This record gives sequence, C-alpha cells and structure tokens, in this order.
Amino acid sequence: MKIAFFETNQSDQDYLSRMLAGHELFFSTEPLTEKNSSQAGTYEIISVFIYSAINRAVIDKLKSVRLIATRSTGFDHIDAAFCQEKNITVSNVPHYGENTVAEHTFALILALSRNVHKSYARGLKEDFSIDGLMGFDLKDKTLGVIGTGHIGLHVIRIAKGFGMHVIAYDTYHDIFLSEILHYKYAPLDQVLSQSDIVTLHVPYNEHTHHLINRKNIKNIKKGALLINTARGGIVDNEALIEALDDHTLSGAGIDVLEGEELIKEENQCLRENCGGDAVRQNKQNRDLLSRDNVVFTPHIGFYSEEALRRILDTTLQNITRFTLGKIENPIVPS
Ligand code: NAI
Repeated sequence: MKIAFFETNQSDQDYLSRMLAGHELFFSTEPLTEKNSSQAGTYEIISVFIYSAINRAVIDKLKSVRLIATRSTGFDHIDAAFCQEKNITVSNVPHYGENTVAEHTFALILALSRNVHKSYARGLKEDFSIDGLMGFDLKDKTLGVIGTGHIGLHVIRIAKGFGMHVIAYDTYHDIFLSEILHYKYAPLDQVLSQSDIVTLHVPYNEHTHHLINRKNIKNIKKGALLINTARGGIVDNEALIEALDDHTLSGAGIDVLEGEELIKEENQCLRENCGGDAVRQNKQNRDLLSRDNVVFTPHIGFYSEEALRRILDTTLQNITRFTLGKIENPIVPS
C-alpha cells in the first residue's frame, strides 16, 4: 500500500521503514497542509500528528486516502464528521500516555508549588538567595480534576500518593472507581471554588471550547493554580490573563496554549500578514509566557521515550490491521 507519514523525525522514519517494509512509504517532517495535500491525496493511508490541520479544504484533496491514522489521542485537528462523509476512516492512539501526561501534569504542579523554575533561573545568575521561594505542600490540599478519563484517573492516583483530596467534574460518573480511588464528583463551579489546584483533562471539542471562561474563572478559589495539559482552546486566554492579573489565580502550568500553532509559525505569520485573531493570540501568549508565575512547556506532555514507542506501535497496528480490512481504534465524530 501507499502510505504517507507527516510530522516525523529521522528516528520515527527509521523505525516505521523497518516495520512497514514492502509498502510504498513517503515521509515528511512537515505537517500536512492545504499546500501539500494534493500530493498526499495520491496515498491510500496517511498518518499525521497534531499540527496537521485536516480541515474540509485538505480532506477534499485526499482523493485516494481511505485511512487517516493520527499519532495522538486528541483528534480536534481533524474534521472527523467530514471524513466520515467522505468515507475516510480516522483512527487514533487512545491509550498511549495516561501515565506520561499525568506525570507531566505533576511536573508543572511541583514546579509551581516549590518554585523550581524561579530557583533554576536564579541559579543561572549565581543567586542562591531563598527570598520569595517559599512553596506549599501538596499534602491535604484539594485537587480539582476536570475530566476523569484515562489521564485524569492517573492524575488522581498520583494525587492520592501525595496525600491530596480530590474532587472531580465529568459528564460521566464512574461511581465504582470514585469509591476505590476516594474522590468525589461535583458540579464544575463547585470544583472550581473548592480546589487549590485545578487540572484539565477533557478533550477539546465544541462542548469544551472555553470551558474555563471569563464568567466561571471568577469562581476559582482565590490563589489557586490552573494546570492545562489537555488542549489550549479549553481555556479562554483573555480570562486566564485577567485571573492572573487580579490574583484569582496565583499561577498557571501550561503545556498547551490557545493558538500554540501560531507561535511556531509566528515569523511566517508576520510575512504573510495573518488575520487579527492570530496576531491577538500571539500577543496574549507572549504576555502569558513572560510571567514568572506561569510555567510553560511546549506541548511535551506526551513526549517521553516510552510513550513515543507506544504511539508508533499503536499507529502501526492501526495501519496494518487496516491493510487487512479491519478497523482498529476508529474515532467517533462528536
Ligand atoms: P479520555 O477520553 O480517556 O477522557 C476524557 C474525559 O473527559 C472522559 O472521562 C469524558 O467523559 C470527559 N469529558 C468529555 N467531554 C466532557 C465535557 N464536555 N465535560 C466534562 N467532561 C467531559 O481522554 P484522555 O486520554 O484522558 O485525554 C484527555 C485529553 O488530553 C485528550 O483529549 C487530549 O486533548 C489531551 N492530551 C494531551 C497530551 C499532551 O501532550 N499534552 C497528550 C495526550 C492527550
């Protein structure tokens, strides 16, 4: 079969070439965009990561494509409903990283709770003073977990190891697990108002767009931390900036940002005179990242050696099963 992989590095390419010997393969380090989608359209299977925006215009050009295998859990970068209309199957990697992303969530929490980032910055300047570096214990604090799926549940397990109390918000309540793991479900506003740290683990879609917004961010317990390792669009950037400015939030740990793809493309954006929205989002993101109570990582929650291997292996399984006429890990449009 003809299979094209986008957003791959040399090590991915070597592994995939070995495992898919006998197929006609194409590799690109770049995302799939409208510009290169005509060429991609001649392949039967394409595999992408999250910076390929598979919208209607792109899908229209994927004439021969029958499977899009995204090497991610989230699939908000793909118009799955339109793929379904065009009879293109979309598969994802549902379970590669619950521990990986949950561990990264705690990397952000601990950086903020113990001022690791500020200490590191001082150390680089040979400043070993401890003024202003007093942190706080996680033990006996309340963690608010929004989204108790694979990642959220692993976050709860780790939180319990730290001796934290956990309250959670989810549209689906798993009463059995909540009893075993000792956490309680509560309405969103209650989770926001009672938690010392709020952490987001819902998928991004039309229902979760700006789930944390100007209206409800004001209900957050004064001085709480907000952690986002899910997707940028779940939090309204303007609301986040305001909440940091008026000290509703004492800090934020951010692995994902609304408009993060625009930061990577900022120079291109300046050259091509992007629309006002992109310029505004870049400005907001620069404002957020320049604050010393914001710890930022560039969407690396998934990025561990073990998780990457699991991602590639599940993607290979999705692809090889498809070549045998079977559909593995299909996503259902929301
Ligand atoms: P999951 O599907 O196992 O869990 C999602 C949970 O959110 C479910 O329990 C679901 O009932 C709940 N939910 C869905 N819509 C909701 C709504 N409107 N309100 C309240 N609850 C809602 O997903 P998983 O594996 O835990 O991943 C969560 C998200 O984390 C992914 O969708 C992805 O966007 C993000 N992610 C980020 C990574 C990173 O590198 N930073 C890596 C992997 C995933």
